Amino acid sequence: MTVDEKTLATPAQTEDEFKNDPTATLQGVKAKDVTKAAKKLLKESAERGGGSIQMQDVVKIYPGSTVHALDDFNLDIKPGEMVVLLGGSGCGKSTALRSLAGLEDIQGGRIMVGGQDVTGVPVNKREMAMVFQAYSLFPHMTALENVAFGLEVRGVGKEERRRIAMEQLELVGLKDQAKKYTQQMSGGQQQRVALARALAIKPRVLLLDEPLSALDAKVRVQLRDEIRRIQLNTGTTTVFVTHDQEEALAVADRIGVMNHGRIEQIAAPQDLYQRPATEYVATFIGLTNRLPGASNGEEAVVFGQRLPLLPNSATGDSVAVLVRPENLTLALPSQHDSNIGEHARVEVIHFLGSLVRVDTVITSGEFQRWNKGEQLKVTVQLPANELPAGLATGDEVVVTPRAVAALAC
Ligand SMILES: Nc1ncnc2c1ncn2[C@@H]1O[C@H](COP(=O)(O)OP(=O)(O)O)[C@@H](O)[C@H]1O
Ligand SMILES: [Mg+2]
Repeated sequence: MTVDEKTLATPAQTEDEFKNDPTATLQGVKAKDVTKAAKKLLKESAERGGGSIQMQDVVKIYPGSTVHALDDFNLDIKPGEMVVLLGGSGCGKSTALRSLAGLEDIQGGRIMVGGQDVTGVPVNKREMAMVFQAYSLFPHMTALENVAFGLEVRGVGKEERRRIAMEQLELVGLKDQAKKYTQQMSGGQQQRVALARALAIKPRVLLLDEPLSALDAKVRVQLRDEIRRIQLNTGTTTVFVTHDQEEALAVADRIGVMNHGRIEQIAAPQDLYQRPATEYVATFIGLTNRLPGASNGEEAVVFGQRLPLLPNSATGDSVAVLVRPENLTLALPSQHDSNIGEHARVEVIHFLGSLVRVDTVITSGEFQRWNKGEQLKVTVQLPANELPAGLATGDEVVVTPRAVAALAC
């Protein structure tokens, strides 16, 4: 961890800097005189609530590299909003977060927080707090001391910082662990302490870089839901970075799907899922079938069914139409009385509780050369009670798209 990262995690000066320098200054005020000013600052920052964020045409090129890690990156966040940046490894998520925090210089564009231009403003003046994937706590301090630390640096008096730290520990469900050394705590508990410490200074913006990635699945889900609950309670503007779509869908007000240093689409989870703007977005979030169709840009015909098309859809006699598994139905040939639909063979039936997912292969000759000669596999998802009784692997069925808007590409 670099000194700047520590600064942000603590989130003022680093421990050593502060301890070794009794005249250390905070925003131009000497540490010994800082108490009153810091209290005022905290109060103002609390009153101000979450900050809005604008990142405008931000370009980041790492030294010695020609790759634009951020390539005219744009992001606009409302006060109190929780935005998740989602994307595969290397797409620029951490770079976006680190540039916002001031941990990275940028080569173009500007960054505004609460309407103020903070481009070039150093880390410790941006009033942000960050939680990293790896725990960045001081191992030789108790949970309480860790949470109180950022307040101490800001000159908050002993009793006051104890009170605030206890409040924060209670918020993350660790009130009874206040006196424990953090090195004795589980990974999940340590991340709770890191979250409490970040929130204790009432940051204008909370930044979370894959904070759950090092935790096991069950703790990850618990803490994820808790982060969202706390974020809603405190109203802190938050940017949460993850490569896990399920995590993103569970916590976000809006999700920005990133690809090659840009956001391809940003929207509420439901919108993103139902109205993807690109194939990348459609395939990154949820399951989707690529079905052969003909498109005039407004409408497509897939397996004889007419579907409305989403904006940005391709036009042509041979396009791929992206259809979600739940937007397909399945019937036995004997019960199928329309000429819409395609014959298929059942490969695997997955029981998912109230839902059933059925993997099929289209058996009609027309689609044998589709997908470069590969079989055309189609996955259908149904409520369990709509599955034809007794359906088994190898059975023949008819698969029909529902008339729900889809993307052609
Ligand atoms: N310190 C660095 N020096 C050079 N290149 C870097 C550095 N950090 C990241 N990169 C490159 O920038 C791009 C974006 O990286 P990053 O923001 O870490 O992606 P993500 O967090 O989405 O996995 C990648 O191509 C990565 O290799
Ligand atoms: Mg990263």
